[in-house]
Amino acid sequence: MTRILMVCLGNICRSPLAEGILKSKVSKDSFFIDSAGTAGYHIGNPPDIRSIAVAKKHGLTISNQKSRQFTKKDFDSFDFIYAMDTSNLKSILALSRDENDKKKVKLILNEITPNEDLSVPDPYYGGDNGFENVYKMLDEACQRIANKLKR
Ligand code: 4NP
Repeated sequence: MTRILMVCLGNICRSPLAEGILKSKVSKDSFFIDSAGTAGYHIGNPPDIRSIAVAKKHGLTISNQKSRQFTKKDFDSFDFIYAMDTSNLKSILALSRDENDKKKVKLILNEITPNEDLSVPDPYYGGDNGFENVYKMLDEACQRIANKLKR
């Protein structure tokens, strides 16, 4: 089993989409995929209605997800931890205990453009077009992750 965690700030906009998209591209038997937020603002809440809508438009259901906060224990529970932006990356690394923890953490857009350290823009305060843009970025990044790890 390969275990992958998607992480953003609130776990209601970007990482729930990343979780849903990657789940749609890999087998349930070989992959466990989850998401979390570095902040606890929305613990227990479903994804933002705009994320639910853009996922639905692309044929995915993410409305059953519930926000939770990233914890140190996640370093033990996951093989790969993908941060949506550089701020999330810093927050995750601040909780790491050793080099082994650090090695698991990557910026998701570096799967598309290696070493460029680009961030998935936070769509929370933007318009609906922001969510479609985020969807497209995450779809490409997740396709690359799936292609890489399926082999
Ligand atoms: P996310 O977006 O990190 O993609 O889930 C956000 C959601 C909520 C907030 C910020 C970003 N917030 O400040 O409440």
